[in-house]
Amino acid sequence: MNKVLAKKQLGPEVFQLEIEAPRIQKRWKAGQFVIIRPNSNSERIPLTLVQSDADRESITIVIQAIGNTTKETVEKEPGDFLVDVVGPLGEAASMCEGQRVVCMAGGVGVAEVLPVASAFREAGNHVTALCGARSDGLRILDAELKTSVDDLRWATDDGSFGFHGNVLQLLQSFAQPGDFGVGHVIGPIPMMKAVANATRDWGMKMYASLNPVMIDGTGMCGGCRVTVGDKVKFACVDGPEFDAHLVDFDELARRNRAYREMEQRVLADHVCRIGLGGA
Ligand code: FES
Repeated sequence: MNKVLAKKQLGPEVFQLEIEAPRIQKRWKAGQFVIIRPNSNSERIPLTLVQSDADRESITIVIQAIGNTTKETVEKEPGDFLVDVVGPLGEAASMCEGQRVVCMAGGVGVAEVLPVASAFREAGNHVTALCGARSDGLRILDAELKTSVDDLRWATDDGSFGFHGNVLQLLQSFAQPGDFGVGHVIGPIPMMKAVANATRDWGMKMYASLNPVMIDGTGMCGGCRVTVGDKVKFACVDGPEFDAHLVDFDELARRNRAYREMEQRVLADHVCRIGLGGA
């Protein structure tokens, strides 16, 4: 059982939870994740580790409440408990030093890119962060990013803040092949695929942090299988980060879609049971 120490709402559907987890706090590295179960009858969900606090022996995760289990999680209040928090899982993000690095994120992926961008900077790189949101009011973690990178730029779909467009268009608006030696991207699959395709001939390494369906998080169930180059990998133990230029994003999208109907059925049932299902 892990106690919720603090909760903060970052956006209409996005919440930050600080959770007591002394052993994870001591060992985690940027890019790793935890698998949580808010209640004993909940499914397991993977969530990126965003921050930690050694004095409070805590970790921080960011959750977008869009499914049944994520909604159950954000219903927790300080003093409540999560029944399981397992981690740190996965491999740490690939690091380098003395490079110009671009970190790109869309939506709630901005939370994952924060520790990775900070780690790149601590390792001695010049870090540019390109972050996307649908509109100004949906931007998250702006203050934290400002103090963690050298150059922070925002793109919004409606142009209400920063560049009018998406993060790939923002990159293409000011950068040329050769400007960056290393990149890291996280966000919706079409966005990561577009970034991979656009930078394939830029002579840079581009890493993508993938978000496949995960079940056990230990490499046993096969749920998170992805194809990278000609190799089958499991995102929970071999990733979640892989060479973006080698990932089969179409297969990843197909596999994630396979569970959508079931997820919607479970969510509809949850909404019905808590009395929001209409008459
Ligand atoms: S989540 Fe089961 S193999 Fe990765």
